[in-house]
Amino acid sequence: MGERKYYEAYEDRYRDVHRQGVKYWADLPWEVLEDLAELDSFLAFVGANPGVHWVLEPGCGEGNLALALVHKGFDYLGIDLAPSALERARARFAEAGFSAEGKFVLHDATDLAFLPEAGFDFAVDNKLLHMLVVDSDRRSYLSASAHDRFHYPTVAALIDVLLPGRVFMRVVNPVMGAS
Ligand SMILES: C[S@@+](CC[C@H](N)C(=O)[O-])C[C@H]1O[C@@H](n2cnc3c(N)ncnc32)[C@H](O)[C@@H]1O
Repeated sequence: MGERKYYEAYEDRYRDVHRQGVKYWADLPWEVLEDLAELDSFLAFVGANPGVHWVLEPGCGEGNLALALVHKGFDYLGIDLAPSALERARARFAEAGFSAEGKFVLHDATDLAFLPEAGFDFAVDNKLLHMLVVDSDRRSYLSASAHDRFHYPTVAALIDVLLPGRVFMRVVNPVMGAS
């Protein structure tokens, strides 16, 4: 067994939060509304089309944006490393009457090689990138391989798994320039 990565501790934190009776970690109304409003602005800005476009969300957590996207009719895939978060995401879908089948994958976002290349239209990163505090992890996540193709070196690419030119990064601590 390799050494446990620091970001795997997220699972422990979700368990603690849930054990204390909190249904969803990100459940403060103002925070959720702000996230959803930004998602709407983004979808409008890029002209995203429900029923046409496939959206990837690395670090999807408990499925807050996931449900909004699926509710709007988008094809969606969420990835997260914390089983407890995905469990809540699936429960959130069930409660809202949506199928979570095929919508969530337990996987490390610093290794997206298992995803189809150029398969997604857009990616939504809502507070994952800043959780990766080691530069090599950020590089792995964003994928050094597409470095030359994009204006912002560090937003290189996650983009390997997106259609050309399609990306959205909502970064709390922008790392532009850290090539
Ligand atoms: C601040 S939370 C944001 C969750 C969700 N996007 C939201 O807005 O509610 C960051 C999420 O990233 C996940 N995460 C952290 N490192 C990860 C990694 N290497 N691969 C996949 N998910 C990761 C955590 O488990 C957590 O669910």
